[in-house]
Amino acid sequence: MILVTGGAGFIGANFILDFLAATDEPVLNLDKLTYAGNPHNLDALQGDSRYTLVRGDINDRSLVRQLLSGRRPRAVVHFAAESHVDRSIHGPGEFVQTNMVGTFSLLEETRAWWSALPAGEKDAFRFLHVSTDEVYGSLGPNDPAFSETTPYAPNSPYSASKAGSDHLVRAYHHTYGLPTVTTNCSNNYGPYQFPEKLIPLMIHNALAGKPLPVYGDGSNVRDWLYVGDHCAAIREVLARGRIGETYNIGGGAEMKNIDVVHTLCALLDAARPRAEGGYASLVTFVTDRPGHDRRYAIDASKIRAEIGWVPRESFGSGLAKTVRWYLDHADWVEDVASGAYRTWVEQNYAARGAA
Ligand code: NAD
Ligand code: DAU
Repeated sequence: MILVTGGAGFIGANFILDFLAATDEPVLNLDKLTYAGNPHNLDALQGDSRYTLVRGDINDRSLVRQLLSGRRPRAVVHFAAESHVDRSIHGPGEFVQTNMVGTFSLLEETRAWWSALPAGEKDAFRFLHVSTDEVYGSLGPNDPAFSETTPYAPNSPYSASKAGSDHLVRAYHHTYGLPTVTTNCSNNYGPYQFPEKLIPLMIHNALAGKPLPVYGDGSNVRDWLYVGDHCAAIREVLARGRIGETYNIGGGAEMKNIDVVHTLCALLDAARPRAEGGYASLVTFVTDRPGHDRRYAIDASKIRAEIGWVPRESFGSGLAKTVRWYLDHADWVEDVASGAYRTWVEQNYAARGAA
């Protein structure tokens, strides 16, 4: 079986659904169920004996110890993190605590347990660390895309805390021989993404007739990947990735934010026309994110060549699927957008003036 951390969040939940559709191997999901963790994301697995959720913190070392020795996973797939850049600007402490200290706690317990395994199990074990392209910093318009050898230059508390966790994972391989593999992926979108991130936030606001808050001039560039393609890449790297290596994952779909928002508006105009006129009239330019990275782009040639992974969705097909999912799952959105979500929206957007 495999131990997944943070499997009730956006990518973790998609990964568990994808993994259990592809194999029969049981999955144990250790998740703290923060605001971003939603056990209902895995409702499709209710009654499935291959899936178990344990509510707990990766910083709870005795719990992690007990899960490792009791369940003897052949791999840890580590998603658990605080993941939203804007929240890291408002409150970096939690990011250091989960992303750095939490990864350290998990590595320490994993190392202690793994060291005592019999040789065969020890060799077969993997610690797969899920990370981000944001650790590489920001690109200029003509810079080459991030490769695995691009120097780290994180700019936000989020990316700095992820960079710290990547370095710890690297060190645990280099120093102790822990069989680690790290993936650094670009921006994901798709089902179950919490509506604090650009794409689900814009869909949610548009359907509510609220302003669509584009930071700065809207010309920051992100390289978008459909979440199902990311999950397939992780599954394949877990099976065939070389120990101690890092793999960049990306869809080769660079887009300016304003173009993403206009594409979303056009999809919504077609699927759910608005009596008051097109959704694009809701676009509002607001004060920029402090330290906003200008451009991300991933060079995914290593994973393509070594693992044979290629994305199946184009940005157009993935975005159309995503819009359809959000239109069909209004209850899911209502559920996660109640209570504490409103406090966050107030905190992040109320004081932002026009750009
Ligand atoms: P998310 O915020 O949707 O989910 C994070 C999950 O981790 C939640 O279920 C939460 O409850 C859990 N969690 C948080 N702190 C925890 C703790 N201390 N112990 C146990 N569980 C805890 O995040 P996501 O977007 O699904 O991202 C998952 C991972 O992928 C993160 O490591 C992130 O850095 C990385 N990543 C995300 C993207 C993206 O575009 N979303 C791209 C590349 C990499
Ligand atoms: O690149 C991978 C990263 O992508 C992941 O590691 C992070 O976990 C994930 O959150 C994401 O980070 P971004 O900061 O790029 O994603 P976000 O959806 O927050 O923003 C995407 C772009 O849209 C960014 O340039 C900021 C802009 N934006 C975002 C929001 C929430 C807006 O213009 N308005 C908004 O309201």
